[in-house]
Amino acid sequence: MAIHMIADLFWKIVPNVNNVGSILKVAAALLVTGLIKWYSMGASNTSERQMHSKVVMITGGTSGIGAATALALAQRGAQIILLVHQSPKDIFLVDYIEDLREKSGNEMIYAEQVDLSSLYSIRQFATKWIDNAPPRRLDMIILCAATLTPPGKPRILTEEGLEETWMVNYLANFHLLSILSPAIRAQPPDRDVRIIFANCSSYIRSPPVDDGSIAMKNKEWSPALSYARSKLALTIFGHAFQKHLDAYKRPDGSPMNARVIFVDPGYSRTPGMRRWFTRGTLWGLGVYLILWQNVWLLLKSSEGGSQSFLYAAMEATLGRGAGGKIIKECQELNFARSDVKDEKVAKKLWEGSEKLIERVEREEAVRRALERKEQDKANKGQKTKENVTDASEASGSGVEAKKAKSRRQKKAAK
Ligand SMILES: NC(=O)c1ccc[n+]([C@@H]2O[C@H](COP(=O)([O-])OP(=O)(O)OC[C@H]3O[C@@H](n4cnc5c(N)ncnc54)[C@H](OP(=O)(O)O)[C@@H]3O)[C@@H](O)[C@H]2O)c1
Repeated sequence: MAIHMIADLFWKIVPNVNNVGSILKVAAALLVTGLIKWYSMGASNTSERQMHSKVVMITGGTSGIGAATALALAQRGAQIILLVHQSPKDIFLVDYIEDLREKSGNEMIYAEQVDLSSLYSIRQFATKWIDNAPPRRLDMIILCAATLTPPGKPRILTEEGLEETWMVNYLANFHLLSILSPAIRAQPPDRDVRIIFANCSSYIRSPPVDDGSIAMKNKEWSPALSYARSKLALTIFGHAFQKHLDAYKRPDGSPMNARVIFVDPGYSRTPGMRRWFTRGTLWGLGVYLILWQNVWLLLKSSEGGSQSFLYAAMEATLGRGAGGKIIKECQELNFARSDVKDEKVAKKLWEGSEKLIERVEREEAVRRALERKEQDKANKGQKTKENVTDASEASGSGVEAKKAKSRRQKKAAK
């Protein structure tokens, strides 16, 4: 679309230019535009790896960068397990998977329902996964899902009472990996297992997260701060998780073969980014459409954003040596702050997160038990009522009893 617009503009201007100076100006403008676009498109992945039969679990694989990554890996033959918050029967999801299978020519694409805003949903899925004996094959986990509250919108709490951004972007990954840890450690020693975290440079600007309780406080909340804080916590946790894996003594004596890799995709034109720009409003969408050429010029596409994920998934050198590297523009870089590798900082956050999860899970279990009890009570009450009606109808006139019975049967059939 933007290329057409530039071409239109070009052909409108060219017939009207009547001197060499104007032609040079137009050429210079086009050159600058081309250079900006070339720069903003970012680096392309050139690393390849045999992906056939590899099992890749991915969160956020239904939108933006995650969707582009899932498609590219499926095209290379990987088995994709999408962790999604919709029910697998959701018609949009069914359509999406069929489309993905068609585009990639790969039938091995499935979805598992995991709502990352719910500790209960994550536990249900992850315990089912690790209950499998022998342990299921798992070559890669790509943690791409994220949420953000558009600027100007109020703070959102999940049904379990946790701040949504903190929950989806950080705590969900902490909970998921903590439960899946035995399944990751049980992979055979010759398997190159990668756990890829979606990072964002916003983590650099975040204030310290301490034990994480600050993220639950209303007073110190803003959309940008909560997003940055969740990404900082995720980066600290990723390093701690690598240390947790490295500390494991495998029964076969082999070194740890699972590595954490962080990926910063760079700014990309995704539905998530659009939500942020438009502030989740109609007028914002209008402004976004008016400024669309600028967005196109300055930001990568989702496919562009997926390039560093593909590099992290397939570059051979990342399957050797220590884990915990960060990739941006398909190359390794240094972390911009040192506290992300600080063991004391990580311990505080890890313990705080464990405590929070334990408390919320306990409270939620009690709430669910009470709800079930209430439901059972209500069901029993309903049955008793029906029995009493049956008895009184049975003692009434034959015609009335028959009429009432047929009414009840019709109701049940409905
Ligand atoms: N876009 C950028 O410029 C940029 C820059 C730096 C870093 N990143 C990071 O890169 C990653 C991908 O970004 P993106 O912009 O492509 O994201 P996006 O378009 O906003 O997509 C987010 C994904 O997360 C899923 N998700 C959200 N809430 C969920 C929940 N409760 N349970 C399960 N899944 C849930 C969404 O599923 P539904 O679509 O079904 O809701 C969607 O698939 C994110 O981690 C982001 O922080 C992005």
